[in-house]
Amino acid sequence: SRPLSVGVAGLGTVGAGVLTVLRQNAALIAARAGRPIAVTAVSARDRSRDRGVKLDGLRWYEDAASMAADPNVDVVVELVGGSDGPAKALVEAALAAGKPVVTANKALLALHGAALAEQAEKAGVALAFEAAVAGGIPAIKGLREGLAANRISRVTGILNGTCNYILTCMRDQKREFGDVLAEAQKLGYAEADPSFDIDGVDAAHKLAILAALAFGRPVDFSAVHVEGIRHVSALDIRLAEELGYRIKLLGIASEVEGGVSARVHPCMVPVAHPIAVVDGVYNAVVAEGDFVGRVVLEGRGAGAGPTASAVVADLIDIARGRATPVWGAAGNALAQTPAVPMAQH
Ligand code: NDP
Ligand code: HSE
Repeated sequence: SRPLSVGVAGLGTVGAGVLTVLRQNAALIAARAGRPIAVTAVSARDRSRDRGVKLDGLRWYEDAASMAADPNVDVVVELVGGSDGPAKALVEAALAAGKPVVTANKALLALHGAALAEQAEKAGVALAFEAAVAGGIPAIKGLREGLAANRISRVTGILNGTCNYILTCMRDQKREFGDVLAEAQKLGYAEADPSFDIDGVDAAHKLAILAALAFGRPVDFSAVHVEGIRHVSALDIRLAEELGYRIKLLGIASEVEGGVSARVHPCMVPVAHPIAVVDGVYNAVVAEGDFVGRVVLEGRGAGAGPTASAVVADLIDIARGRATPVWGAAGNALAQTPAVPMAQH
């Protein structure tokens, strides 16, 4: 049957990765999607830049948002980044045009997710974002679909690959913070502005999305307590180790009376805990459900391959017509529930 025609905006680490996955696994993806999935249009800033992927024959858009009006684009993939500006304009334009959107943009969703989900719901199209939380781990599917029968009491996680990579290399290789951060940037793990990673903001964006899904209510991002790893020293890491702990940047969200408590900060994790051994660029998402008990999902949380894997999974769902047009299984909880103030810490 007719291929699903995809427009990809943003051809950096993740965008180039998506093109590679779609091409390298084309036959397998077509079989699973029920039809081929082909990128036909792209957008980025610098047309002359070598991205390690062939762009011959693809329509090029200088202005990402105008790609949404391309009559030959069925689905828009937003991989530009940023909570406002071109990314938001593109997603809004695509939904307004009645086109499904796939995005990896947690900053956009943490701040504008409820409004965008409402727009998607009204348009009756999917707003899919598996790649926005914990890279290649199917955390969104796992929480929203796999654990749908449970009341979730708590979601915890190592939600930033860059920070976990830095803490691991400082511990195991005795390397300097700045030196490892530079390497994480080179490897494509870090955000365009790495202060989002090391100051805990990126993990907080992801935690806000997870909490909204887990507890079925919008999360006021400005009320999330956020602390990063800038001040964690080699001595802190060594002393923690001597006491039988590992320092991890954790996101922790739970339902409390009158709202949701959500916080991101470095934690001392006992070495016997399953997430203490989640090292390097790996992330972990731990959910506690009333019937299932504790579920731990682990995998690579950043980088081209893992993130593109999640983006393409969303595209396969859309091609098969099985993507949920809303955030929650029982309707758009984010858009329908009145905001509840975050509990103080
Ligand atoms: P990059 O910085 O590598 O790539 C961003 C891309 O967006 C570049 O190709 C850039 O163009 C393009 N771009 C920037 N501004 C515009 C614009 N105005 N119009 C069109 N294109 C534009 O980012 P990543 O690939 O790392 O991340 C993309 C998104 O995925 C972000 O939201 C990020 O948070 C998210 N994400 C990233 C992960 C990762 O591991 N890297 C993991 C999970 C999510 P040009 O190349 O010409 O400069
Ligand atoms: N900068 C992010 C991280 C990318 O390091 O986890 C994945 O969302």
